[in-house]
Amino acid sequence: MIGRLNHIAIAVPDLDAATALYRDTLGADVSAPQDLPEHGVTVVFITLDNTKVELLHPLGADSPIAGFLSKNADGGMHHICYEVDDILAASAKLTASGARVLGNGSPKIGAHGKPILFLHPKDFNGVLVELEQV
Ligand code: CO
Repeated sequence: MIGRLNHIAIAVPDLDAATALYRDTLGADVSAPQDLPEHGVTVVFITLDNTKVELLHPLGADSPIAGFLSKNADGGMHHICYEVDDILAASAKLTASGARVLGNGSPKIGAHGKPILFLHPKDFNGVLVELEQV
């Protein structure tokens, strides 16, 4: 059901420092920061040959990653995103298998303008999983 690894997201306490680390130390192709107010994050996209990395930094008072950073002061891996062909079919199959879809269970439009949903980390070995329809 799942296809390619679309991206790995890393929550970072200092977006400028993390961007410089990936650009200058690791020599990666990094984007300018983009504010995504509807998701409560500022994102820097790092494009690799085979996938992407997204640096996430809280934006606004109700950011979904503020709590994560308060527990992980140095930052940390926040989620991984797998591609699916049909997000509604994937959601139905996962729900039928007992996995929990976060939120109201309906896909939202994600940072790349495509439908996404998140799966409960307790159902996936402690990893928050995002599915993106491509
Ligand atoms: Co993501």
